[in-house]
Amino acid sequence: MNSFLIIGAGIEQVRAYELASSMGYHVVGTDWDPEAPAFNLADDRIIASTRDPQDTLNAVIKYCQENPGYPLAGVMTIANDVPVTVATVAEYFGLPSIGIKAAEIAADKMLMKRVFADNNVATALFRPVTEPQDILIAARDWNWPLILKPVDGRGARGVLLLDESMDLQEAWDESMSFSSVGRLMVENFIVGPQISTESMMIKRKCHTAAYADRNYGRLQQFKPYIIEDGGTQPARLTANQRWEINNLVESAALAMGISDGIVKGDIVVGPDGPCVIEIAARLSGGYFATDQIPLATGIDLVALAILHALGSDVTPDMVKPIRDSGVAIRYFFPPEGTIKCVSGLADLSDQPGICKAVLYCNEGDVIPQVKAHPDRAGFIIAMGSGRQEAEARVEKAIKSIVFEME
Ligand SMILES: Nc1ncnc2c1ncn2[C@@H]1O[C@H](COP(=O)(O)OP(=O)(O)OP(=O)(O)O)[C@@H](O)[C@H]1O
Ligand SMILES: [Mg+2]
Repeated sequence: MNSFLIIGAGIEQVRAYELASSMGYHVVGTDWDPEAPAFNLADDRIIASTRDPQDTLNAVIKYCQENPGYPLAGVMTIANDVPVTVATVAEYFGLPSIGIKAAEIAADKMLMKRVFADNNVATALFRPVTEPQDILIAARDWNWPLILKPVDGRGARGVLLLDESMDLQEAWDESMSFSSVGRLMVENFIVGPQISTESMMIKRKCHTAAYADRNYGRLQQFKPYIIEDGGTQPARLTANQRWEINNLVESAALAMGISDGIVKGDIVVGPDGPCVIEIAARLSGGYFATDQIPLATGIDLVALAILHALGSDVTPDMVKPIRDSGVAIRYFFPPEGTIKCVSGLADLSDQPGICKAVLYCNEGDVIPQVKAHPDRAGFIIAMGSGRQEAEARVEKAIKSIVFEME
């Protein structure tokens, strides 16, 4: 029996475990945490840091030596920014992957931006900064506002929107505290609608399965932190804008050296047209790939990503939407403090169109200041006949959950 390896065993990876299992594979998961939730669905578990390619590779080699009856047929991840780990294991075992070089570009925002600039892929102005004074120089060259971010960040940790009122040393220290490699960069802040895309590159052509509007309605509330409060499909884009964005993602992926595989885009439609903020070489998290895209379009990108990782043919027609339904996700942002009581969850099932509701916190938990996406307290996903109905339903549902604080 062949085995299928999934890097990471978090809650957002559960669907990949279920699918690989249902496809008849011996599912092996890796995670540093022996209690990781998706391990319950794995046939075997490997304890290793997903962020440490060599640690994971050594542990996988050992597993394969001890279990010759389960040769590896493929490796993937989902919702987990570990492209180098996936590519390192794949290359060692001769499995399909984007390759280590492309993965290294995907893992370093500065390297990625350089590759975009060298290949005329529209992106923000950017430069590395080595001290707070460099931010002032960038502001003089490009004007405020600016974005300061770690080159190796994820989940918007340490991504700050800066204007002239900010204490730059404080911003610097805050952003730097999230960089494992100790490197920061600045970009000009591009104003315009923000879009999430998820696409499959097939033989150097990009096929975008889904475009979603990202909701930054709380930008002022959480500033300088950039916190997204969910998203909505279908995105408010013309057919021509979709075409432009698809082409942009394609040129960005090719510039990174990705000719086949899943690419997830953070796009902003700026005054001069769409720009790429970044491309992740993996399936998205936040239940976009696992729930929102299948609900809105009928496309199961997780299944396609597994097929691709196994080296099976994924054809363009498999990435074509079969419907364009309304789907919206919004997050819970309880006030800071200790939760005394949460009410309303049991009544959610009476509300129309609610597809999924998850609360990450319980009574007695302390709600911190929201500084990054992992600080959001949970979410609701709702469907509707179109975007308006989906948004109205999800917003009503979010408001119906009441957090009483101590
Ligand atoms: N130059 C920019 N102009 C406009 N918005 C930006 C810019 N840079 C970042 N953002 C916004 O901040 C978000 C987080 O930035 P970025 O994607 O670089 O960090 P991240 O840690 O990878 O976050 P995530 O995991 O949410 O993608 C972006 O998705 C985008 O919405
Ligand atoms: Mg990002």
